[in-house]
Amino acid sequence: MPSLLASSFILLLAATSTIASGSLVDESFKIDVHSHVVPDFYREALIEAGYPVKTIGGEPTLFTDGFPVSVWNLTDHIAAMDTMGVNYSTISVSAPGVNFLAGKNHGLSAIALATKLNLAMYNYTQAYPTRLGAMCILPLPDINATLAEIIFCLDILKFDGVGMYTNANGTYLGDSALDPVFALLNARSATVFVHPVKPGCAGADLGHPDPMTEYPFESMRAMENMLLTGQRANYSQVNMIFPHGGGAMPYLATRIAGMASLSFLGSLNVTATLAQFKGYLFDTASATTLIQLLAMKEFFGGTNPYVPLAQAKPGLAAIQANGNFTSAEMAQINHENALSVFPGVAKKLGLAI
Ligand SMILES: *[C@@H]1O[C@H](CO)[C@@H](O)[C@H](O)[C@H]1NC(C)=O
Ligand SMILES: *[C@@H]1O[C@H](CO)[C@@H](O)[C@H](O)[C@H]1NC(C)=O
Ligand SMILES: *[C@@H]1O[C@H](CO)[C@@H](O)[C@H](O)[C@H]1NC(C)=O
Ligand SMILES: *[C@@H]1O[C@H](CO)[C@@H](O)[C@H](O)[C@H]1NC(C)=O
Ligand SMILES: *[C@@H]1O[C@H](CO)[C@@H](O)[C@H](O)[C@H]1NC(C)=O
Ligand SMILES: *[C@@H]1O[C@H](CO)[C@@H](O)[C@H](O)[C@H]1NC(C)=O
Ligand SMILES: *[C@@H]1O[C@H](CO)[C@@H](O)[C@H](O)[C@H]1NC(C)=O
Ligand SMILES: *[C@@H]1O[C@H](CO)[C@@H](O)[C@H](O)[C@H]1NC(C)=O
Repeated sequence: MPSLLASSFILLLAATSTIASGSLVDESFKIDVHSHVVPDFYREALIEAGYPVKTIGGEPTLFTDGFPVSVWNLTDHIAAMDTMGVNYSTISVSAPGVNFLAGKNHGLSAIALATKLNLAMYNYTQAYPTRLGAMCILPLPDINATLAEIIFCLDILKFDGVGMYTNANGTYLGDSALDPVFALLNARSATVFVHPVKPGCAGADLGHPDPMTEYPFESMRAMENMLLTGQRANYSQVNMIFPHGGGAMPYLATRIAGMASLSFLGSLNVTATLAQFKGYLFDTASATTLIQLLAMKEFFGGTNPYVPLAQAKPGLAAIQANGNFTSAEMAQINHENALSVFPGVAKKLGLAI
């Protein structure tokens, strides 16, 4: 979410502690799985493509999806991490990604922009190897170019994971066109961070900012589609993180599971559907209020909570109290869950696992 650039961070609440006692870090060690970069060349590409620049408070301000894009540079990013007490961030590119260039056959292509962004993120991780890791941006819906970019990022650039969006030009997660991509990710037990984007399907268009309500519903729509098409069940080894507390999912999960059990939708097993949803990781970016945290905790509660959480600074201090989390749960939220899906990070940082 552009407003939270460099100030949001993800906390994870996972069931199984992967950190042995005697680990080198205390419970407050924080891994932020949700922080975005906006290199100057990316901002320029967005402006060139026609995204509007409006004057807000006397300053020219770029808007995407009806929301301002933060001014960003690497020095500020690291400074914000220090201010927030974040030890390590996995950086990614927020909506709209590179899809706005898809199909363009003159000038910069979506593939070229994705590669350039990945190389820029690689440079940032090289500048701060113990503070930053990266999640690859993909040139979807071009499947072949996407497969090549995943291999390049994971094998050559050694990225921590892969970034995806809820849809690319209307191709939603769950679409069988993405099977080759999920097969590759599944074979590697890769970790995917799924950021919402502007809806790629017909729906309400009242002209309000997409991040306000459409993003939370996009996350849910993608999870719902992967359930009903069977794609998630098919590729269950992929670790998937959905931001903003999983969007509307904690609130609507039981409703979806109930309806999906109707015969005309395939008579899906309610318990299995809820287990599938509980297998996702959610972060707490702009989802730190009592109601949101308790919805996540209740839904993902019991013996196997698996909730990654991210939040901006004002929510940080309140998260333990609002969620009524124990210190052990806070350690899971702060880093243990993240390390469970980013095993390479523990290795790189020399943490005992
Ligand atoms: C980053 O931006 C800040 C303003 O937010 C500015 O003071 C600083 O010079 C910039 N650093 C670089 C390296 O551009
Ligand atoms: C994590 O960050 C905090 C706050 O900046 C710092 O005090 C602590 O030493 C860091 N932990 C490690 C293991 O680097
Ligand atoms: C995007 O979707 C539109 C409408 O379905 C289609 O006409 C167009 O070819 C698609 N573009 C790409 C690059 O897939
Ligand atoms: C990455 O860093 C190299 C070496 O400093 C530089 O030549 C290259 O232009 C940078 N690439 C990007 C995309 O920033
Ligand atoms: C994608 O790659 C496969 C295998 O290399 C090839 O058969 C197919 O024609 C390619 N598709 C496109 C659209 O380039
Ligand atoms: C399941 O995976 C197999 C192998 O990749 C593929 O052929 C099949 O279409 C997939 N089915 C679904 C529902 O995703
Ligand atoms: C649904 O799945 C659960 C767990 O696998 C199983 O115990 C239960 O019997 C299943 N329910 C039905 C109606 O098949
Ligand atoms: C907080 O959690 C404790 C232990 O699980 C429980 O006894 C207490 O009722 C909870 N408090 C609130 C306000 O939910």
